[in-house]
Amino acid sequence: MTSRTPATARVTLGSTFTGAAGGGSGDPDKARDSSGSSGPGGPGGPGGPNGPRGTEGSAGVTVDRHLAAAERQTSLAADVRAGLTSQPRELPPKWFYDATGGLLFDRITRLPEYYPTRREHAVLTAHADEIAAACPAATLVELGSGTSEKTRLLLDALRRLGTLRRFVPFDVDEATLLQAGADILRAYPGVTVRAVVGDFERHLGSLPGAPAGAVGGDRRLVAFLGGTIGNLQPAARAAFLRAVRDQLRDGDALLLGADLVKDTGRLVAAYDDSAGVTAAFNRNVLSVINRELDADFDLRGFAHVAVWNAENSWIEMRLRSVRDQEVTVRALDLVARFEEGEQMRTEISAKFTLDGLRAELAASGLATSRQWTDPDRDFSVTLAVPD
Ligand code: SAH
Ligand code: TRP
Repeated sequence: MTSRTPATARVTLGSTFTGAAGGGSGDPDKARDSSGSSGPGGPGGPGGPNGPRGTEGSAGVTVDRHLAAAERQTSLAADVRAGLTSQPRELPPKWFYDATGGLLFDRITRLPEYYPTRREHAVLTAHADEIAAACPAATLVELGSGTSEKTRLLLDALRRLGTLRRFVPFDVDEATLLQAGADILRAYPGVTVRAVVGDFERHLGSLPGAPAGAVGGDRRLVAFLGGTIGNLQPAARAAFLRAVRDQLRDGDALLLGADLVKDTGRLVAAYDDSAGVTAAFNRNVLSVINRELDADFDLRGFAHVAVWNAENSWIEMRLRSVRDQEVTVRALDLVARFEEGEQMRTEISAKFTLDGLRAELAASGLATSRQWTDPDRDFSVTLAVPD
């Protein structure tokens, strides 16, 4: 991870925007506001209202970019160099999500073996109105928002309550983010969409301030769904929760979706499906590196591995070299030799208990106010407030 301070570019996309990456987006390199970017040392830069809100309330999706292409490239380069030169080798997961990765993940969510999306959907369907009543927010922020499909259940509940003014989806994957933002804008007339392209481990200090015309305060509900919390290592998880907590004001709340420990067979199957979609998703990180860092990974030379690590309570995704091979990453001037059978870790997906979640939240200054699961207790949704 680099410590360069990114510039923030803000543009407004017309309501006819179709969602192709960067398409019709004006001049993304024209930085208008760098005041809200977090400096070295990670999230938690200057808080409060950030920068000008000149484009607020217009007909289009407003976009804040904290991760311009150049910045993304520098950050990817640093991560890949560190990961390929360490032993055991490891690649950081956020780079799975380019446009192809987004599509593959979307297919994962529909796989018969991948229960988390359906279970979380069930929890939100059953309890969205209680969630909205507990945090009658004007702004719904969603971290790692992806396609924001399940989020509509929350938007609907807040709209029924009459408090919803604005949706702030936040993701590293700009293409998916903008498509989702445009879809939501169309489906929720009168709701402003302010999309943030950024890394939630670094740019939380740049969440937008109060929306124009907010009445009765500007409560924010910050949703972090899909079990993405489990993709962070324990120390990063604690830092992330602390950074979220530091952004929350009185009346704001965090809504956290987290997968629960269960039968190992079901856990492994969810990350090693019979159709091979998860395998393709895992290998996609190699395509991202090939394209963005001019590398020559042969995707057929790496097999998908998913194992349950009981000691750490997480699923580990790896790529196993199926033969001795050499990979050149030209942009890094780096040659990596892989022996047959060498395994490179690409992702963890931690599984929690309800008590464990409460304890982790408490350790980061967040008090659990409500906790829900689906009837089978497969997946949890926790509402927490700053203590
Ligand atoms: N919330 C959706 C998507 C989950 S997939 C759901 O529940 O189905 C994880 C999402 O988080 C992807 O869209 C990915 O692009 C995004 N993401 C992963 N790491 C990120 C990071 N460090 N900063 C911002 N977004 C990130
Ligand atoms: N947040 C999702 C999860 O942990 C991400 C995910 C699903 C994933 N399947 C994957 C990440 C396969 C890497 C590989 O469930």
